[in-house]
Amino acid sequence: MTDPQLVLTERVQQALAAAFGAEYATADPLIRPSQFADYQANVAMSLSKRLRRAPREVAQEIADRLSGASGEGRPFPGTVEVSGPGFLNITLSDDWITGQVAELLTDPRAGVPETPSPQTVVIDYSAPNAAKEMHVGHLRTTIVGDALVRVHEHLGNRVVRQNHLGDWGTPFGMLIEHLLDIGEEAAVAQLEAGEGNAYYQAARAKFDSDPEFNRRARARVVTLQAEEPETMRLWHIFMDATVRYFNKVYTQLGVTLTDADIAGESMYNPMLAQVCDELQEHGIAVISDGALCVFPPGFTGREGQPLPFMIRKSDGGYGYATTDMATIRYRVQDLKADRLLYVIGATQALHMSMLYASARMAGWLPDHVSAEHVQIGSVLGSDGKMFKTRSGESIKLLDLLAEAETRAAAVIAERDYDEATRAEIAHAVGMGAVKYADLSVGHDSEYVFDFDRMLALTGNTGPYLQYATARIRSIFRKGGIDPAEATGPIVLGHPAERALALRLLGFAPAVLEMAEGSVPHKLAAYLFETASTLTTFYEHCPVLKEGVEPATRASRLALLALTLRVLGTGLDLLGIPVPERM
Ligand code: ARG
Repeated sequence: MTDPQLVLTERVQQALAAAFGAEYATADPLIRPSQFADYQANVAMSLSKRLRRAPREVAQEIADRLSGASGEGRPFPGTVEVSGPGFLNITLSDDWITGQVAELLTDPRAGVPETPSPQTVVIDYSAPNAAKEMHVGHLRTTIVGDALVRVHEHLGNRVVRQNHLGDWGTPFGMLIEHLLDIGEEAAVAQLEAGEGNAYYQAARAKFDSDPEFNRRARARVVTLQAEEPETMRLWHIFMDATVRYFNKVYTQLGVTLTDADIAGESMYNPMLAQVCDELQEHGIAVISDGALCVFPPGFTGREGQPLPFMIRKSDGGYGYATTDMATIRYRVQDLKADRLLYVIGATQALHMSMLYASARMAGWLPDHVSAEHVQIGSVLGSDGKMFKTRSGESIKLLDLLAEAETRAAAVIAERDYDEATRAEIAHAVGMGAVKYADLSVGHDSEYVFDFDRMLALTGNTGPYLQYATARIRSIFRKGGIDPAEATGPIVLGHPAERALALRLLGFAPAVLEMAEGSVPHKLAAYLFETASTLTTFYEHCPVLKEGVEPATRASRLALLALTLRVLGTGLDLLGIPVPERM
């Protein structure tokens, strides 16, 4: 265990138990990073009431136990001081930090443990709609979901990706008829190019104005529902072309989704009748105004009336809720999920909580399985409205990503690289910038899409972190040293070395926190702080410069090698590509 916060928590708990009795052994010592020391523990204040003693006195007693003044146990890995109304200021010893860093140096995982009890984590993300354009909202659920996939796989959990494509429903009647009208080849070309929206609008216009087309489209819905072979052949042509476009976006982004992860709405079609029957038979769903509905407890409308979760409309049709009930049953019963993550827009919060409540009622979501809505906030334009183009039409994602690359190329224009290297860097920086913008803010908060801000080389941006790794690599290149060979030993002289070393110990906890709470922005914040600490280190701690003592140089190179491993692994877990040079 190298996480200082955990180590200190354990030590203070032991001191609490020794001083005040075993019942305090699990009290939270409230260890936090501090301005005045490495950490502070605030537990004395909260305990003083319960113990009916002055907080400073309580703090002093804990401090005495910790520093061994009262004679027990192992030496404390630092010093403790009581300050103010009863804070415990804790400073770790350089020896202890050095020892922990030495341990991390021998660990290719930089301290991140593999989970002793792997879980099956089913992650629903991306999920664009075939009949419409993939928009920046889908971009964000794709990017956040993929980061969660990466972190769970790194920890050794079994991850099942589920791309819940919107690939079924009544609009497909007119989409298929339009395909027949314009010809398979033309349709495929248009869809592959990402013109799904224009395609949809053309079909829709005919549906609204041309009675004959309208009749054909409706008839087509019937043969689609019946999965009649010729209709299914046409549906496949439409879907395959559409998916090829989605795949272009995934490839461009470096997202790990493949065709094998597609589990769209169509996949659940054959299960829906049974879903409804089963719920009705068990009295979980009841007929209300002709529709089949679940009324999960605790959900009420404005006048206090119970809210329906409608799983079959009065015309007999199934909807989004029906399919989602089926996703839960399938993922728990067939995929054997321990944990379900639905990475979906925050606007669907009510749908998701009614879904979980209904599934719990049905017994399809047992208590030991957790179901979590990872709410994705909207991406806004500079006008504060949903992000679109300047002219107000929605933007084509591949165009947007291409623009990110062009702008990234401009950022590195001055550098002296050949064409191929330049293109590689522009790609990594462009995609890194876009992805990091989605990941560095809380996944449920809105933010304004702004190329200039996300591509900046300073501040909390993807390019800043990429640059931090490239800069370390360039030192190793210049010195002709392989980072794998930079093994120290570590000696902490300058405060900037100490600060960097201490920071590196926080990597594993940041990774675990991200996985546990589905909070990529916490890992992003940690990486940004690490890169900032590194910047200070550079200012004060020359490495290759003449006159630097060999032992100091060896130690600094080892710190840099470990920092590179931490930043590189961390960025990889977020799905941010890391260029060798920049
Ligand atoms: N296709 C939906 C949309 O674009 C998202 C589907 C999310 N997944 C789910 N199981 N409901 O809004």
